[in-house]
Amino acid sequence: MLHDNYGINEKGHLTVCGADTVELSEKYGTPLYILDEDCVRAKCREYKKAFEKHFPSGSLPFFASKALSYVGIYRIIADEGLGTDIVSPGELYTAQKANFPINNTCFHGNNKTDDDIEYGIKAGVGYFVVDSMEELNALNETAKRLGKVQKILLRLTPGIDPHTFAAVNTGRIDSKFGSSIDTGAAEEITKAALLLDGVKLCGYHCHIGSQIFESEPFCRAAKIMTEFSAKIKQKYGYEAEVINLGGGFGVRYYEGQDEPDTDAFISEIADVIKGVCDKNGMKFPVIFMEPGRSIVGAAGVTVYTVGSVKTIPGFRTYVSVDGGMPDNPRYALYSSRYTALIANKADEPCVDEYTIGGRCCESGDMIGEGMLLQKAERGDKLAVLVTGAYNYSMASHYNRIPKAPIVTVSNGSDTLAVKRETYEDLTKNEL
Ligand code: LLP
Repeated sequence: MLHDNYGINEKGHLTVCGADTVELSEKYGTPLYILDEDCVRAKCREYKKAFEKHFPSGSLPFFASKALSYVGIYRIIADEGLGTDIVSPGELYTAQKANFPINNTCFHGNNKTDDDIEYGIKAGVGYFVVDSMEELNALNETAKRLGKVQKILLRLTPGIDPHTFAAVNTGRIDSKFGSSIDTGAAEEITKAALLLDGVKLCGYHCHIGSQIFESEPFCRAAKIMTEFSAKIKQKYGYEAEVINLGGGFGVRYYEGQDEPDTDAFISEIADVIKGVCDKNGMKFPVIFMEPGRSIVGAAGVTVYTVGSVKTIPGFRTYVSVDGGMPDNPRYALYSSRYTALIANKADEPCVDEYTIGGRCCESGDMIGEGMLLQKAERGDKLAVLVTGAYNYSMASHYNRIPKAPIVTVSNGSDTLAVKRETYEDLTKNEL
């Protein structure tokens, strides 16, 4: 079943990490996010192991917490010994609440405010990933005022188009992120950073995009980044200690998608970097990467309750569920395709193609179209698979719908990790 943490039990119910999703939805209500903690931990270990095998000591995977941010996830990530990528003071605050070792964070974002910068430095962020000349100067000034020297990486755009969808494609020259290698902006910001004493330049960062299934774009990015480092060394005598290659490893959302083999991809990337380093007389730098989706994606399943089932002859059948774009805006935003099933009839054959509609007052509020499902009836539990990444973290209150809770499952037993919001929560800041 799509990923090996999903199964069907003797009642014919969908299971995640051995837990019955129908029983969980009865216990906690719907919509419900279920997160398989064992699967998250296994993914963390897979990355760590590959890093230890192929990259020099000190290299580390950083979980990109924009994929899933709540206090408990930072505890799991800390426990597994990964770093974390944060992109806002809100994510930083959440990590602090979990006692995450903040020196193991990379602070991203193309527009950090002065307040964000000060907060990050005071919190002890490991590396600021500096996006622009303005940020570099502001960071330098603030660090000096606070009597600190802040470690930084420079976000560069290596000019790569990994053929993923435009909204998540970030490594091209035409991007709001970073400084372009091709235009010379990357060299300029490197030169500038080397002259400042409130910051310590440790190396470079790039992130070429998300949901990438081939190793080739990663290898190309690794080559361009290491060659850039070699050129800077040759011209200015500065050799980067760290290269951070960002995230982007693809996840299987439906049958037919071939997931990256983590070890094989990391090994290929390592070979490319080593080749460029050997050729240029450089030390193999410490490598960071920032997988987000591939760590939590398959671990998540969302369960809804089916309300109406409406057939429009000659057109289609709509199945409406008690959630939708507020808990998963990805179909509305990117037409992202998912796999769904009727969790309480998981062992029955699929009978029809359905359009799964959400409960919002908006036609575009859908979870998917043309989805092959078991016969759907009011009261059924509908499960959408692979919702661990960019669902809870992108959830909204549209139509004043309280956010759904997260239940984690480990070794077959469940724990409430995030409570369901109440109506009172919705108005608590309103005067
Ligand atoms: N590092 C940086 C600097 C990033 O910008 C991102 C994702 C990642 C790492 C993690 O990439 P991943 O391994 O998760 O592919 N909301 C979109 C995804 C946006 C990704 C933005 N950056 C979606 O729902 O598909």
